[in-house]
Amino acid sequence: MTNATISGTGFYVPPRVVTNDDLIREFGIETSDEWIQQRTGIRERRFADHGVGTSDLALEACTMALADAGIEAHDLDMIVFATLSSDHCFPGSGVYLQDKLGLCAGERIKYVPCLDIRNQCSGFLYGTQVATALIESGQCRNVLLVGAETHSHALDLTTRGRTVASLFGDGAGAVVFTATEQDKGVRGIWLGADGSQADVLAQRIWTISDFPFVELDDQGYGRIAPSDLFANMDGKTVFRHAVTKLAGALMQALGETNTTIEQVDLFVLHQANKRINEYVATKLLKIPPHKVVHNIERYGNTTAATIPILLAESVRDGTLKPGMKVALAAFGSGFTWGSALIDW
Ligand code: ACO
Repeated sequence: MTNATISGTGFYVPPRVVTNDDLIREFGIETSDEWIQQRTGIRERRFADHGVGTSDLALEACTMALADAGIEAHDLDMIVFATLSSDHCFPGSGVYLQDKLGLCAGERIKYVPCLDIRNQCSGFLYGTQVATALIESGQCRNVLLVGAETHSHALDLTTRGRTVASLFGDGAGAVVFTATEQDKGVRGIWLGADGSQADVLAQRIWTISDFPFVELDDQGYGRIAPSDLFANMDGKTVFRHAVTKLAGALMQALGETNTTIEQVDLFVLHQANKRINEYVATKLLKIPPHKVVHNIERYGNTTAATIPILLAESVRDGTLKPGMKVALAAFGSGFTWGSALIDW
């Protein structure tokens, strides 16, 4: 049987560090390091410079992942790009990345298909499902999956927007899925969604059923109210659903594969909020803390990028080694959620 294994990982975060105190000093936001750390665990995050976008961050992470896998971009059969902060409204960021990877010019043009995934914090797990299915069905040998976000350019960095603005950061993480006949790789993926909660965490920008889709002035310039322009979130509802759905998704993965928590070597959970993950891992599932990796204190919530960044960092610091059993889980806007089990 052909399995889908992760043959390479990579990550990139922009160099500009923005601490909680910088949110006060640079942007004049009325908040405090203590408030943010106590409620979220976040100490600092990274912001991309003006002129740097999501496909640029992705390019760095993907270049590292391809080198780690020992393949070139030309060996890819599919590019899957998960993001909620795509470079433009359309086309998706996948094609911009393809061009930046050098696949669209020169003597070795390769028109690799590009797919964009819009599943917010669960984007990496939805992408894992797609990549695994493409490989197990024999349609692809190498699939590049990247999660990348440039949140900082679209945050309301004022006191009005402080609840959301203090949570998010920029970054990219990438993996290469490769076909193998060895008995390892992705063992299963379990996904879910609840569209009745779609408005609980959303950045609407426009409503396409409105004509025109945004208010236009005499010159044809669009006018968008801050409540639509920036992300809106009912944080307490997100918290409640995140805890139950993350725990449920992990229990489903373990239950359906007859796997115990003791048999899992590493838990890699989406980094939305340290308190959510501590509640799920320590309080509900009684997972020993040393088996749960985190980096939210350094990067904040990088949405589709949190899990692949954590995987790439864990490989490089020696926490994640071949032969380990890894459980992934994520929850986010939509609501969407998912889990996966991988024999590394
Ligand atoms: N600094 C200081 N005060 C703040 C800040 C801030 N950054 N943000 C909000 N406050 C204030 C509010 O204005 C409010 O003040 P008031 O009582 O005078 O009106 C007070 O703090 C309480 O506000 P709440 O929104 O009720 O704060 P809460 O205790 O719920 O904490 C938080 C907010 C941290 C967002 C929490 O709801 C949470 O963690 N929710 C989960 C959301 C999440 O993780 N989202 C990530 C995206 S989704 C995902 O990836 C899963």
